[in-house]
Amino acid sequence: MAKFYFCGKYNQDQIHNRFNQLIIRIEEEMKIISGQSILKSFLAAALLVMSMNLSFAQVSADAGKTLFTNYCASCHAKNMKTALTGPALGGAQERWGNDADLYSWIRNSQAMIQKGHPRALELWNQYKPTVMSNFDQLTDDEIGSLLAYINGVYDGSYGAPKGGPVAAQGVVAEKKSNNWLYWVLAAFLAGLSYLLFRIIGNLKQLSAAKQGMSYEKPTLWQTLRAKGVVGFLLFALVILGGYTTVNRAINLGRQQGYEPDQPIAFSHVTHAGENKIDCQYCHDGARRSKHSVIPATNTCMNCHRAIKVGSKYGTAEITKIYASIGYDPLTNTYLENYDQLSEDTLKAIYTAWMADSYITEKGVTALDAEGERLVASQWKNLVKALTNDEKKKIQGPIEWARIHGLPDHVYFNHAQHVSIGKVACQTCHGAVEKMEVVKQYSPLSMGWCVNCHRETEVKFTENPYYDSYERFHKELQEGKRSKVTVNDIGGLECQKCHY
Ligand code: HEC
Ligand code: HEC
Ligand code: HEC
Ligand code: HEC
Ligand code: HEC
Ligand code: HEC
Repeated sequence: MAKFYFCGKYNQDQIHNRFNQLIIRIEEEMKIISGQSILKSFLAAALLVMSMNLSFAQVSADAGKTLFTNYCASCHAKNMKTALTGPALGGAQERWGNDADLYSWIRNSQAMIQKGHPRALELWNQYKPTVMSNFDQLTDDEIGSLLAYINGVYDGSYGAPKGGPVAAQGVVAEKKSNNWLYWVLAAFLAGLSYLLFRIIGNLKQLSAAKQGMSYEKPTLWQTLRAKGVVGFLLFALVILGGYTTVNRAINLGRQQGYEPDQPIAFSHVTHAGENKIDCQYCHDGARRSKHSVIPATNTCMNCHRAIKVGSKYGTAEITKIYASIGYDPLTNTYLENYDQLSEDTLKAIYTAWMADSYITEKGVTALDAEGERLVASQWKNLVKALTNDEKKKIQGPIEWARIHGLPDHVYFNHAQHVSIGKVACQTCHGAVEKMEVVKQYSPLSMGWCVNCHRETEVKFTENPYYDSYERFHKELQEGKRSKVTVNDIGGLECQKCHY
């Protein structure tokens, strides 16, 4: 038994009694403290903060994005600036003025037209007989989220900028939304420290009283100024600072879930999913080289020489392929000296195609006002998609925004994994065939590579590539070993992955 400092003065029973008293005092002390308003109000405040944030979270542009993709994107352009089947939604909230009317419109547009709402009539006159679907299942919060997303995309405040260096924006934005949790946690810890501080003070006072000495509880300020505490705080600051710096450095350039806007609304669902085109038909580098490579425009042309009008976007997206490579879909020929043609010449060629396709589709004899608007907005969108600050001309390769990127000091080889390791694309990239927009599925961290190398068995006996590992083959035959992992053949050696 541990020696008590008052053992000399008391017998066993007395010690026992004292000890019990002490426990009772502690319990009382705890009761007093927990009954006190500080704890209650602290807890109440924490709850308030949490509920406030939860109710904020219900209306969010991110939620709006998902809703938009699921319900609206089939008719309304994702950039909020071009008209598709329905009008561009950018600025709609202002055009309606009254939110209640706008919400009613989204839930049941035909009802608003019948009521004779001026904006509803205006829209109907432009777009009839196309009817917008009803969305009476959407809650106020969901419509609020949709509008937050629409406004955010329209004024450019939502989403990572197109192209450019792969910045860590996605990550930073994600972190922000969790910040309040840290604050609640910090407040909670501060409250807890204060409680402990009170308990310790009271215990010290108690034990001093036991010894017949007087003990003055230090004030909170005195405690905070004590050497040990200051030292500890400094230490904590250094650790925290170091941790965030390292964390930032690690996260730089690596960003799970990163999903930038692309110049063309290319969909893996349409191509790899619905039409079952093999990944390697387009990414043929994966099998034979370090890089998988994004397909060149020529690969697209294998099919899109024939598929000229899409069922989703009509001529809006596929024409971008033609304009980048100089193919005239009206005459089915490649344009001569394409590089030297002026933007006006290109405009004449491609808007003629858009207009022709509109006239055929609508069965009209000439371009009407709606058709003119559609062609104008499609052309504007095309120019924007195919040019940027550095690339002034429409002509030239499509500049896809890069999603995956390992730091320069890492060596990763697709062929090694796809052809020799026989690892499926989806193991590392997720179900790309179900992604409208490709996302980075895996963390691409060192831990991710290393863990897989530890766990994955190589197809040792099936693949002649491994014939040279005689020792392992012998051990397998003799039953001394049941499997060979990537680790066994050197997959954890630093220089295999690092230059
Ligand atoms: C089936 C196609 C279709 C879908 C899906 C669709 N819309 Fe529409 N939307 C239209 C059409 C067409 C119009 C033009 C009016 C008309 O003809 O009914 C329109 C008009 C609008 C307007 C009025 C814009 C303005 O400038 O005043 C808003 C707002 C709107 N839609 C929001 C939405 C939202 C939000 C969703 C998804 C929840 C959605 N729409 C889904 C076809 C669609
Ligand atoms: C018809 C051609 C085509 C097919 C088939 C196709 N892709 Fe793609 N893939 C593209 C294009 C174009 C891009 C660039 C635009 C984008 O990111 O959507 C791309 C981008 C990607 C990216 C992101 C590249 C980056 O920037 O880091 C991955 C990963 C990818 N594809 C994997 C797959 C997988 C896995 C399959 C099979 C399930 C597949 N692709 C099938 C054309 C194709
Ligand atoms: C073992 C994991 C793994 C497998 C399997 C894998 N990839 Fe990748 N992929 C990666 C990594 C890691 C990167 C980033 C490479 C870089 O930045 O150098 C990447 C990048 C890409 C890119 C961007 C262009 C590039 O090469 O950097 C495309 C496209 C792509 N992968 C497609 C595919 C396809 C298609 C398959 C299947 C045939 C596949 N990948 C199989 C891990 C994998
Ligand atoms: C193996 C054939 C094939 C290849 C290669 C191919 N596509 Fe497609 N693409 C299709 C099919 C099929 C559709 C569906 C057409 C439809 O909507 O009716 C389609 C649809 C599209 C659409 C949607 C059009 C719309 O309005 O709905 C776009 C955009 C597109 N492709 C872009 C590309 C790009 C960019 C490439 C090259 C990286 C490419 N495609 C390569 C077969 C292909
Ligand atoms: C899904 C599992 C998986 C992931 C994730 C993975 N690898 Fe591999 N890796 C394999 C397999 C399987 C092999 C065996 C192929 C072979 O025999 O070369 C391999 C082999 C290698 C090799 C050759 C090793 C040798 O000894 O010859 C290198 C280098 C490598 N991987 C690098 C990486 C890097 C870098 C990453 C992360 C960016 C990574 N791998 C992620 C499964 C994986
Ligand atoms: C299977 C492949 C693989 C092996 C083996 C490997 N690394 Fe890495 N390493 C990576 C990848 C991938 C990254 C990039 C991680 C990122 O961007 O976050 C990395 C990053 C690093 C970094 C930079 C810090 C960071 O997290 O970005 C250091 C330092 C490092 N590795 C050291 C080593 C050492 C030392 C070894 C040997 C004991 C080793 N690595 C073995 C794949 C590997």
